[in-house]
Amino acid sequence: MKNRTYNVIDLFCGCGGLSLGFEQAGYNVLLGIDIWKDALETFRHNHKNGATLCADLSKITGEDVDREINFQKVDVIIGGPPCQGFSVAGKRIIDDERNSLYKSFVRMVEYFKPKAFVLENVPNILSIGGGTVRETIICDFQRLGYNVVTQVLTASDYGVPQNRRRAIFVGLKEFSFDFDIPKVVHKVTTAEALSDLPEGSQSYKSDYICDSQSDYQTFMRQNSKGVMNHEVTMHNAQTTEIIAMVPDGGNYKDLPLYLQNTRKVHIAWTRLNSQKPSITIDTGHRHHFHYKWNRVPTVRESARIQSFPDDFEFLCSRTSQYKQVGNAVPPLMAKAIAEQLKKNLLCQKKQ
Ligand SMILES: C[S@@+](CC[C@H](N)C(=O)[O-])C[C@H]1O[C@@H](n2cnc3c(N)ncnc32)[C@H](O)[C@@H]1O
Repeated sequence: MKNRTYNVIDLFCGCGGLSLGFEQAGYNVLLGIDIWKDALETFRHNHKNGATLCADLSKITGEDVDREINFQKVDVIIGGPPCQGFSVAGKRIIDDERNSLYKSFVRMVEYFKPKAFVLENVPNILSIGGGTVRETIICDFQRLGYNVVTQVLTASDYGVPQNRRRAIFVGLKEFSFDFDIPKVVHKVTTAEALSDLPEGSQSYKSDYICDSQSDYQTFMRQNSKGVMNHEVTMHNAQTTEIIAMVPDGGNYKDLPLYLQNTRKVHIAWTRLNSQKPSITIDTGHRHHFHYKWNRVPTVRESARIQSFPDDFEFLCSRTSQYKQVGNAVPPLMAKAIAEQLKKNLLCQKKQ
């Protein structure tokens, strides 16, 4: 195993978007833990240095994890525990089953005492209960000796062609710090991300049909040996006809009145806007369509929007691949977080 600067374990790792960003920033990901076999298959396939553990994180201990990594030192713990279940009573989080996953993150930090941790989550975690959840999380880690900053980040500020927003809690042991990640000057558009990928399916690892048409595409293609995960979804004739009526960047409001309510969600019939970063892609609900083609984006196009490079291959069924991509933290955003964290860790060393 290559010995890089900081050893990381990734809790709730999914297919490994967060891990990939940390690897790109030069960290050594020792282990990814998740309960979902498909995502771990993809993780193993793409993170050749990192092992995986398939386990329910609410049920395993720090010792269990320590054995998996042969008792190596853990410098940083990262991860995004699903926290949808948080509810609040007065000034604290209600202590029940639903936040046992968050608790397992705290437990692992308590056990390994890493130099730092990054906990990522949905932006509204900072405002639930008028900020009570945020305060409780900060207190939990302060009790373990960490100083904590919270922030909401927008992925397009870090080179991702998507306006996905995520909240982060960054903790550093006994060290006060700021966490201002430099932003890109140019936001990458959806067309810059996708315009070199064809309307139809491409067979496994076939050549690109044209030269790269943007710096972003060149960057995505860097280590790629051909196009993967680009099989198009065939819609029925009625769906294809309806989406053909929506212009680039449009939505259900562009349809004739009698068609506007054919789907019951407000994001239905949305076409991506070729000239802007994409809206947040989902896990395959088929509400967002390509800005030019009359179909949903392929898994590869979704991966491009999430900033997964073209050599990152998604395994298992297509439905599962969409879910793995849609659930992930965009690697380029994760890389920006990891680089900023490294600067802070180096400052800490000097003190
Ligand atoms: C938002 S996704 C994580 C995405 C990941 N950070 C990435 O960047 O690709 C949350 C993950 O938590 C996992 N998960 C949910 N409950 C779990 C549990 N009890 N134990 C372990 N993993 C769990 C899910 O399978 C899912 O992959």
